[in-house]
Amino acid sequence: MSGTERRNPPVTDWSTEYDLRDPAYVADPYDIWRDLRSRCPVATTDRLGGSVLPTRYDDVVAVAHDTATFSSVDTAVFPRPAGASPFVAPPITSDPPFHAEARRILLPHFGLAAVTRLEARTREIVTELLDGLEGRAEADAAADFAEHVPVRVIAHLLGIPADDEPRFTDWVVRVLQDTGPDTERTRATATRELLAYFGDVVAARRVERGDDLVSALLDAELDGAPLTDKHLQGTCALLLLAGIDTTWSMIASSLAHLARTPADRDRLVTDPSLLPQACEEFLRAFAPVTQARIATDDTEIAGCPVTAGSRVLLVFGAANRDPSHFDRPDVVDIDRTENRHLAFGVGIHRCIGSNLARMELQVAIGGWLERFPGFHLRPDATVTWTGEQIRSPHRVPVRLR
Ligand code: HEM
Repeated sequence: MSGTERRNPPVTDWSTEYDLRDPAYVADPYDIWRDLRSRCPVATTDRLGGSVLPTRYDDVVAVAHDTATFSSVDTAVFPRPAGASPFVAPPITSDPPFHAEARRILLPHFGLAAVTRLEARTREIVTELLDGLEGRAEADAAADFAEHVPVRVIAHLLGIPADDEPRFTDWVVRVLQDTGPDTERTRATATRELLAYFGDVVAARRVERGDDLVSALLDAELDGAPLTDKHLQGTCALLLLAGIDTTWSMIASSLAHLARTPADRDRLVTDPSLLPQACEEFLRAFAPVTQARIATDDTEIAGCPVTAGSRVLLVFGAANRDPSHFDRPDVVDIDRTENRHLAFGVGIHRCIGSNLARMELQVAIGGWLERFPGFHLRPDATVTWTGEQIRSPHRVPVRLR
């Protein structure tokens, strides 16, 4: 978290004044979701600019599918500052019919064949990071490992120098995690810097193409015309923001679970073939993303009125713990086979990077367990979290052996 944290007064009723920034919600939202689901499945709040929060699986799916009533024009969990220009990041901020075109351009770059091509580099990245921990007794599984894997993979994909990693990380933290005294402005400034950075990258690739995604996008066409600079910059920024914080959150929360659960850790060490199924369960249980939609008309969700212009939050993690869809939803069960979780969203905006994210998660967790099979949480330490749009373990202090 950067800056001095800005705190609202403590929440007394989560159904009418929920607060994504409340430390209780950031640290442990599961009890809150369970309580809301049972007594008021569509909560409301005036905090952080006001929003509506459905907690049941079926309601999240219904909102995500109804793109006419719930627009993706602004998917941030709170409003932009007055006067700030919208963050245009196709396809995530696009509605039909334009959305399908913007998505089509990206899809081939994230299919299974493309992801297989990235796997060798991902293994190298994981090995380099693990080598850097050799000889140490303790480490922070988030700061020393998880946070670096996706940044380096995305830099490779976009053909950007690995030396720019600290800048990428800084932008991700300022755009998605900042809760300082002037959050809205910090985020808007960081977004502008990020777009300007990709403006330079696009200009450089126009002069000389490389073997990377930015160069491929320069040759793509939409309605018979090349993509505009604004489109290219927004899409590149989206890939950075969507691909980094989410994946590092999942690597860190999976390691945090295994650090606290030696029985699961030992089973995966003994039988790595369980890893894909275990990773699906981690995705279900620790789904990090909350995305917004804007109601285009007066409407209702499960009978609760929603006025035009309202911000509706899709908390995919809350849907993933709905007992009407998951048996014992609050138990992290790596033997779970029936697992239609929503960690990657649902409907037309379902994550484009899910194959890539799954590969990174499995390579990172598998590599870590092979190197440090006896790792565990430091007995004196606790896992701390950051929250809002992407919920993520901030610190995971572990003993490596
Ligand atoms: C574990 C890691 C990840 C999680 C949990 C995740 C989650 C999500 C979710 C929930 C959505 C739906 C957003 C919505 O409905 O508004 C989404 C969309 C998207 N994600 Fe991911 N994501 C992950 C990794 C990635 C990666 C690695 C990339 C690519 C580098 C990526 C690129 C995208 C894009 C481009 C979209 C927008 C798709 C569209 O609007 O059609 N994501 N992701």
